Amino acid sequence: MSKKAHMLPANGHRIQGMSSESFLDTSSILNELNLKGDEYFMDAGCGDGHIAIEALKLINQGKVFALDVYAPSVDDLIALKEKENLENLIPIQSDIAEHVDLDDDTLNVILMVNVFHGFKARRVIDEAIEELKRIIKPGGKIAIMDYKKQEVKNGPPYVVRSSPEEIEEFFNKHDLSMTYLNNEIGEDIPEGKSHFLIIFEKGA
Ligand SMILES: C[S@@+](CC[C@H](N)C(=O)[O-])C[C@H]1O[C@@H](n2cnc3c(N)ncnc32)[C@H](O)[C@@H]1O
Repeated sequence: MSKKAHMLPANGHRIQGMSSESFLDTSSILNELNLKGDEYFMDAGCGDGHIAIEALKLINQGKVFALDVYAPSVDDLIALKEKENLENLIPIQSDIAEHVDLDDDTLNVILMVNVFHGFKARRVIDEAIEELKRIIKPGGKIAIMDYKKQEVKNGPPYVVRSSPEEIEEFFNKHDLSMTYLNNEIGEDIPEGKSHFLIIFEKGA
């Protein structure tokens, strides 16, 4: 298989950037969140939506919001929702660093996989965190999974990567506290594991 073919999402949906479906295990990521099934859950920066689609299997009494700034990805999820009658899938097109079209305190859990480094590249970290904080309920969780800050062959450039400690500092500035860190998750690479997953909570 060519490298390009390997990067195309298996579900054929359009994506800007790279789907993590071929190199990260979606079920083990969702397992980290201990979902009960009645949450308002958001896959933020959902791309091809494979994580949101997997989350639908776990969330039978809540809703799964699949948000991306790239309209074609969202259009493909709207088409899937209509075709398969997925009532609790809610695709949304918005830029997290500007405005998400949801009321304050709407969500129980937000997951962002391989998205945070893009905020660093655009220098919109504070704007993005403030908007995530606005839409999460008090007591809700914001989970960030991203590439470890190391010089390795695959993934984004070193300069746009953040360590969990740096991310904790960014979130603490917005009064969001870290409640969980898994420093060893993701793909097995020669240097160890490729990713970390860190969770923050909005106080009640
Ligand atoms: C590398 S892809 C990862 C997609 C998916 N989370 C995955 O793991 O396969 C990053 C995604 O984040 C989206 N994205 C980047 N910045 C965003 C923003 N400010 N608001 C909403 N989506 C954003 C991109 O359009 C893209 O779909």
